Amino acid sequence: MSDISAGPVGQLRLAPSILAADFGYLAAEVRAVDAETDWVHVDVMDGHFVPNVSIGPPVVSSLRLHSKKFFDVHLMMTQPEHYLSSFAKAGADGCTVHVEIGRTAELIAQARSLGLRVGLAANPDTPFSAVEKFMADIDLLLFMTVFPGFGGQAFIGDVMDKVRQARELVNAKGLLLDIEVDGGINEDTVPIAVAAGANVLVAGSAIFSQADPLAAASQLRYLAVNAQS
Ligand code: DX5
Ligand code: ZN
Repeated sequence: MSDISAGPVGQLRLAPSILAADFGYLAAEVRAVDAETDWVHVDVMDGHFVPNVSIGPPVVSSLRLHSKKFFDVHLMMTQPEHYLSSFAKAGADGCTVHVEIGRTAELIAQARSLGLRVGLAANPDTPFSAVEKFMADIDLLLFMTVFPGFGGQAFIGDVMDKVRQARELVNAKGLLLDIEVDGGINEDTVPIAVAAGANVLVAGSAIFSQADPLAAASQLRYLAVNAQS
């Protein structure tokens, strides 16, 4: 874990997903969008929870030397308990586990004890009730707007019902909680997600697969700010 702050809860955050970056130039890719982005979203896939594998703690520790951004690590894993400590040591600032794997209270407590900011993620077909009971115990609620495993998929708009419910509850109860969306976030879907109540926007291909990633990030931020007001 580093001592980098996530910034004020509820504030608009653009989190580029490095899954869409060129891994051969990872540090340069992240640095290139520094000025128009807030966090760095790290997608960890274990080949069990999702049918794909991506990166692990060594990549996080290497990248840590090249970025002072908040590292938002999304653990698409069936056994994150075996890796939370390695990610914390590697320089993760926040770790998000999936509610579908169970043992949620224990995982939250473990991540908390490691000094991590704690997130809980829900797949598109996971009901709001599955995450609702943990909302007072976490720092970030991640609603997947695609089925996890791959970048470049189409946004599932139905998930906005859950985002709206979560935002209403956060407002009603004064919870200190970020609401994040991940998957298919682009120029068309940013306004929809922000209007529903999301404040952390993960975007992979809409940033790193563009000819000018910095300009693409800047445009996403502009659209998000406009949708907020
Ligand atoms: C999906 C990942 C996402 C994904 C986003 O499994 O959790 O972070 O890489 O990629 P885009 O923005 O391309 O949908
Ligand atoms: Zn992700």
